[in-house]
Amino acid sequence: MEQRRSDGSVGDADYSTIGHNYAIYRQPEPRIARLINDALGEARTVLNLGAGAGSYEPRDREVTAVEPSASMRAQRPRDLPVAVDAAAEDLPFPDNSFDASMALFSVHQWSDLEAGLREMRRVTRGRVVILSADPALLQQFWLNEYAPKVLAAEARRCPSLKRIGAALADPVTSIAVPIPLHCKDGFNEAYYGRPERFLDDGARLACSAWSFWASHSCVGGRLHHAAHLLLIARLRRATARPSTPPITRRAVAGSGTTTMPAG
Ligand SMILES: C[S@@+](CC[C@H](N)C(=O)[O-])C[C@H]1O[C@@H](n2cnc3c(N)ncnc32)[C@H](O)[C@@H]1O
Repeated sequence: MEQRRSDGSVGDADYSTIGHNYAIYRQPEPRIARLINDALGEARTVLNLGAGAGSYEPRDREVTAVEPSASMRAQRPRDLPVAVDAAAEDLPFPDNSFDASMALFSVHQWSDLEAGLREMRRVTRGRVVILSADPALLQQFWLNEYAPKVLAAEARRCPSLKRIGAALADPVTSIAVPIPLHCKDGFNEAYYGRPERFLDDGARLACSAWSFWASHSCVGGRLHHAAHLLLIARLRRATARPSTPPITRRAVAGSGTTTMPAG
């Protein structure tokens, strides 16, 4: 496992620097929540791994949340369970502890994907639900024209669906997740029809790929003045364009004794 940062973060992103306002920008999108709920099937007990501030955590099931970053744990609503401080690669639970498990917007950050997915499989009796980006599609997003380094970083860190399936060693169903035009959850692609949102430092900070952008132009997700002006100029060109049609970019992979419905 990678060394822990000052707030306990273990992934490739340092949430002690970029995580403090995460929950403001990363609210659950109801239409994505419905897909996740369907994917979890009849599960009563659910492990939420890389749970962050609790987005998409079902309130009508018995959830155990795992989150290594204290900055993220601190943003969890009071009515959600206190998250266990642990990492995917070494889960402190006996075999077959949960009916289902889920990792949402998280696997691309793990230092050892295969070890983490093996652990998920080990502690889960039924379905394992992963929500992630398909690296084969990421750079088709128009943002690639304006911030290619950000999209390249994201494509490098996102595992292919094939790799996720191989690590789970089970039949896997993957479904495309449509992203609504006014998607509430502020990941990069959610702003495909609202390019001006990328000019908000906080919005970029809530998408960790921006924190890897060349250190001369981005410190802790805040753009230096010159880089900011350049991005504004580029995005003005983007905003002048008619909005691109809805895209489907994120995918859910399900695994376990039953397969998920195709979307
Ligand atoms: C983009 S956030 C997603 C949070 C939440 N699942 C959501 O949908 O909003 C990624 C989360 O994964 C966590 N994470 C990164 N590496 C991890 C690991 N190895 N084990 C468990 N969690 C990890 C981070 O601390 C962070 O909270």
